[in-house]
Amino acid sequence: MRERIAHELDVLARQSQFRALEIPKGINLCSNDYLGLASDPRLHQALLESINRVHQVGSTGSRLLSGNSSEWETIEREFAEFAGTDAALCFGSGYAANIGLLSSLLKPGDIVFSDALNHASLIDGIRLSGAEKVIYPHRDLRFLETALRARSGRPGASVIVTESVFSMEGDVAPIRDLLALAKANNAALVVDEAHATGVCGPHGRGIAAEEGAEREVLATVHTCGKALASAGAFVCGDVALRDYLVNRARTFLFSTALPPYLAGQIRAALEIVRGADTERSHLRELASNLRTKLKEEGIDCGTSSTHIIPVLLGSNERALHVAGELQRGGFAAKAIRPPTVPRGTARIRVSLTSKISIEQVCQLARAISAACQTFQTASAGAVHV
Ligand SMILES: Cc1ncc(COP(=O)(O)O)c(C=O)c1O
Repeated sequence: MRERIAHELDVLARQSQFRALEIPKGINLCSNDYLGLASDPRLHQALLESINRVHQVGSTGSRLLSGNSSEWETIEREFAEFAGTDAALCFGSGYAANIGLLSSLLKPGDIVFSDALNHASLIDGIRLSGAEKVIYPHRDLRFLETALRARSGRPGASVIVTESVFSMEGDVAPIRDLLALAKANNAALVVDEAHATGVCGPHGRGIAAEEGAEREVLATVHTCGKALASAGAFVCGDVALRDYLVNRARTFLFSTALPPYLAGQIRAALEIVRGADTERSHLRELASNLRTKLKEEGIDCGTSSTHIIPVLLGSNERALHVAGELQRGGFAAKAIRPPTVPRGTARIRVSLTSKISIEQVCQLARAISAACQTFQTASAGAVHV
């Protein structure tokens, strides 16, 4: 086994795909702390107060054994209200929520229609379920409609699964159209709001809420580790869905509950986020500015329409070069490479935070453009060697 590990690490290094842990330095462009709440003193204070309030700092077990507490029961009701649903259930992370939800909902004999760019946690949940899967090209409604029709009338349940704001593209799923297709074809819709929670929709309630669809979809998944600067995730839906997950979702059943004091931090984050319209509009302005500037420099930022802006660079080497140059220039930026993104679409994923200024965004656009040019020069040189 050790030889295999060494061999695979060697292959990764030769393909420019070896990753090492680093501590980000400089202006952070690779965090999901979209509203800068991770260092917000109000959140710090809320956590301290919550720790002082709770009787136990550890949850001591799974929710079905000793790990349940009034903190979690209450924050679940509050989160459901935020999401616009009747109920919500907390999981240890977004990863656990998606795996638990999809692997328990879907069974062999069911069919799941999954956007080609869905996050690994959705993909893994689908794989674990044993359901038949149809991967539809990213946001391709025509393909999806044909695929749904081709399978209509077959036994088994049909479920469409999508992110709302796509984590690597920064574009938005057409939730209303997906819902219409789902309804016409007797399918359910599951929406992962990880990158929309706190940032998109009325009071940061997500894209399903923006479309008035939060009660029509079967489930929305809101994660707390990104704009809410906390941890955990909530699957939001009706009471029956919550009861079902309590009984069937293995990542809920067989995992220790998060510590009860975290509920206090999540509550404070929800309150801050509800009132963060100014930060959200600044974030939109930053994003639109950066897209305009990059386009002026002839840099491809795909179909982004949100705070996540991919700088599409193609090869791993080019992405690594640009990331390195940005880091030297004082920006914490990372090269995102396959398998996280499709082959040939290596990129810098710029995730903006409302804490940065328009000037910094202009500086960033200039630095990206300069880094792309030095790569061209360096590779042209290499050809002649
Ligand atoms: C779309 C999406 N869903 C789910 C997750 C997982 O959430 P968590 O980090 O809370 O496990 C992520 C994390 O990056 C994500 O991007």
